[in-house]
Amino acid sequence: MAYEVRGVVARGKGRPVSVETIVVPDPGPGEAVVDVQACGVCHTDLHYREGGINDEFPFLLGHEAAGVVSAVGEGVTNVAVGDYVVLNWRAVCGECRACRKGQLQYCFNTHNAAQKMTLADGTELSPALGIGAFAEKTLVHSGQCTKVDPAAPPASAGLLGCGVMAGVGAAINTGAVQRGETVAVFGCGGVGDAAIAGAKLAGASTIIAVDISDTKLQWAKKFGATHTVNSAGTDPVEAIKALTGGFGVDVAIDAVGHPKVFEQAFYARDLAGRVVMVGVPTPGMEITLPAIEVFGRGGAVKSSWYGDCLPSRDFPMLVDLYLQGRFDLDAFVSETIGLDDVEAAFSKMHAGEVLRSVVVFDG
Ligand SMILES: NC(=O)c1ccc[n+]([C@@H]2O[C@H](COP(=O)([O-])OP(=O)(O)OC[C@H]3O[C@@H](n4cnc5c(N)ncnc54)[C@H](O)[C@@H]3O)[C@@H](O)[C@H]2O)c1
Ligand SMILES: [Zn+2]
Ligand SMILES: [Zn+2]
Repeated sequence: MAYEVRGVVARGKGRPVSVETIVVPDPGPGEAVVDVQACGVCHTDLHYREGGINDEFPFLLGHEAAGVVSAVGEGVTNVAVGDYVVLNWRAVCGECRACRKGQLQYCFNTHNAAQKMTLADGTELSPALGIGAFAEKTLVHSGQCTKVDPAAPPASAGLLGCGVMAGVGAAINTGAVQRGETVAVFGCGGVGDAAIAGAKLAGASTIIAVDISDTKLQWAKKFGATHTVNSAGTDPVEAIKALTGGFGVDVAIDAVGHPKVFEQAFYARDLAGRVVMVGVPTPGMEITLPAIEVFGRGGAVKSSWYGDCLPSRDFPMLVDLYLQGRFDLDAFVSETIGLDDVEAAFSKMHAGEVLRSVVVFDG
């Protein structure tokens, strides 16, 4: 028996989202239905709404979520009804060429539910990042469910499902920040502040936050930034060099996803330093760099898909650190909102008024 629930749908490029009835099928083999308890508003949802990811409208938005498994399909063994889970958007296949090399974080064939959720008239929905969790229930592949300690409240724990994990992972996994290293993070939204928190967890001695908003820079200090640079009025490359003995940082993280910012990150690092791109550029953006600089500066230029995380390893670990008071997930939650408030949350995000608005379901 399929379920009819309310969900947030983006019907066309740039059009305001609407709350509509969606139909969630019973889980098939390998699938699970999750009663969503909370789901954060990520910039990637806005990218979808703006047509910046692809044109497969209508989208069912939302992908940073925690909830409880309410039904499982045939053959599901990793979770059971009643389990408290954080949803992930890279359920590894275990069989592709990346997985076979033991590089599961790069899996080239990640799993999503095989069945489609639909609008009431049968129109198939494209769930954002294969999740679609601005809805009272959602259908996912069982591998997209990661069990975590239910002591962590859903509004905070759910954020691990995307932005926080991407940011923390960009620092500790992709950037491999070491104790005593210097780090610069460009863009202090949910992802950038998580990268700052990740750099702090890893023991970075200097963490420079760069943003064009003073409010965001103030917030960044709460997560561990030791210095801040407002790049609206100051050249961030020069400022970062001045803060690092004239050399630049060991690790520079672009958490915006704009060519200009990537270029700043590229030049703000020390010789043999690492540049990490975790912000997502839109199609059509281009980067032009002198080849001799790419060679001559050495080091590494890496992109960070989902913080190179393994949900089964990293979600429970970060929840444990949270419960021990060593990682402040609550600080990312600017406000809790209802399902009808997602469009307003996009405006607040755009205006830089929030880090994360989180939709909480009454349940
Ligand atoms: N790689 C991944 O797996 C992954 C996962 C989640 C989100 N993302 C991407 O990360 C990026 C950030 O997401 P978010 O949710 O933190 O967004 P956000 O809107 O909350 O934060 C973006 C921040 O960048 C700042 N900013 C904008 N232009 C800037 C500039 N020119 N220089 C410096 N700062 C600037 C803004 O003031 C804001 O604080 C987005 O592109 C999002 O799609 C990537
Ligand atoms: Zn794989
Ligand atoms: Zn996201």
